[in-house]
Amino acid sequence: MTTQVKKICCLGAGYVGGPTCAVIAYKCHDIDVTIVDLNESRIAAWNSDHLPIYEPGLDKIVFERRGKNLFFTTQVEQSVLEADLIFVSVNTPTKKSGLGAGFAADLAYVESATRQIADVAKSSKIVVEKSTVPCRTAESMRTILEANSNENIRFDILSNPEFLAEGTAINDLLNPDRVLIGGLQTPEGMKAQQALVEVYAHWVPTDRIITTNLWSSELSKLAANALLAQRISSINALSAICEATGADIDEVAYACGRDTRIGPKFLKASVGFGGSCFQKDILNLVYLSEQLNLPEVAAYWKQVVDLNEYQKKRFVSHVIKTLFNTITNKKIAIFGFAFKKDTGDTRESAAITLCKDFIQENAKVRIYDPKVTTEQIFLDLSEPGVVDNTKQLKNRVTIAKSAYEASEDADAIVIATEWDEFKELDYQKIYDQMHKPAFIFDGRLILDAEKLRNIGFRVHTIGRAE
Ligand code: NAD
Ligand code: UGA
Repeated sequence: MTTQVKKICCLGAGYVGGPTCAVIAYKCHDIDVTIVDLNESRIAAWNSDHLPIYEPGLDKIVFERRGKNLFFTTQVEQSVLEADLIFVSVNTPTKKSGLGAGFAADLAYVESATRQIADVAKSSKIVVEKSTVPCRTAESMRTILEANSNENIRFDILSNPEFLAEGTAINDLLNPDRVLIGGLQTPEGMKAQQALVEVYAHWVPTDRIITTNLWSSELSKLAANALLAQRISSINALSAICEATGADIDEVAYACGRDTRIGPKFLKASVGFGGSCFQKDILNLVYLSEQLNLPEVAAYWKQVVDLNEYQKKRFVSHVIKTLFNTITNKKIAIFGFAFKKDTGDTRESAAITLCKDFIQENAKVRIYDPKVTTEQIFLDLSEPGVVDNTKQLKNRVTIAKSAYEASEDADAIVIATEWDEFKELDYQKIYDQMHKPAFIFDGRLILDAEKLRNIGFRVHTIGRAE
């Protein structure tokens, strides 16, 4: 007989824990779902009318189930005690210091969440690794948990990595391409695996629920992100060739993508990928490869990140060169600060690097993003290694409430995020209020360059010759 999951607890109410477990509550009315976080203000926001993250469709789901079978709390102990299945969905950032700094994942949060479970549990639990972790992390979790188990309490560990993308998280969760559940291939491990399969089977067709061993599941998550990022770096590498030859990157992507073996998705050239995970997870894979004494494999994946850095630098150099080799005191309007459209998340956003480099060249940047707050922008730009001089930051950066305000008196516009609203703007109005010649640098290939040229703009698009 399989264990029936009745109460779920999720440690970590972030971009993954929040939406994922809200959707479980939405689809499984027979299961109580409690999402726990140490961060009090984050939990307060989850319990308010203004959720802490912007994600299309999330509000409706949370508001519909909150207080019924979906709860947000800071009471870790109580929630762990009561749950029969616990998701560990805490952050796993790149280590900033110590062994593996700059590459390895910092597993301190995963370990402390695991220890909390071990300390508090008074009955058997299925513990599910939801965070993205290096291959074989479940082994460390199991060792910690088993050291605290006895004849009355057993812990089964599963790996259930999350594949949602921000901006489309709710759709990704409601209609996943696949759900991956790794477990130890022992009778108990497979029983635990089956218990989680049954949770997802409330709404996911069973042929989309893949079960594997623990290590395949852990590695598949890193591999999937590495392969996705590799496609972007590949298309971005080709965009440089396009600019130098007269080929058009959108046409090249379309022509290649029509080959069913290649496929059309994830071939949009850009100013560089951002987001909290691609870079982190590839560096993690690089570190893992090095630890396994596979330097050629490590170098292969590292190149995906290096190319991404090159793409951002290449874009900045192009802007400076085009603006007559100096941007000192020139006004640059930055359209978009989030790492992609339909999210307010700015982690590792390419816009941060662009702003940093423009400020270093003494330009004045005026930023507009429909979903990122002023506080968040200043927070990101004052991170160590970005703009270290507070006075310089205040003098050089202003935040605008609209794209029109951002582009007033500007010398150039830089499209950093592909927000739909940037396609619909009145560019004649924008042109009229800018310094001339008025430049647009489209880092996302979303604008109609011909139309803009007819207005009078000088248009530069990634992956297209001028
Ligand atoms: P996040 O930083 O938004 O959220 C993590 C939360 O965990 C934070 O609110 C933090 O306060 C909380 N936390 C830390 N330790 C805790 C503890 N012991 N008990 C309770 N709460 C604790 O991170 P995220 O973006 O949700 O990512 C979480 C994991 O999921 C990472 O490993 C990430 O790689 C992975 N992932 C993220 C995405 C994404 O789109 N963001 C997608 C797939 C996988
Ligand atoms: C990515 C993966 O797509 C998810 O499957 C994964 O779960 C997640 O990472 C994670 O592990 O965190 P996410 O980073 O939210 O999701 O968003 P993506 O849509 O993958 O975009 C990442 C970056 O690549 C963005 O900056 C985006 O603008 C850029 N991108 C994406 C391109 O430049 N070109 C493309 O064709 C696609």
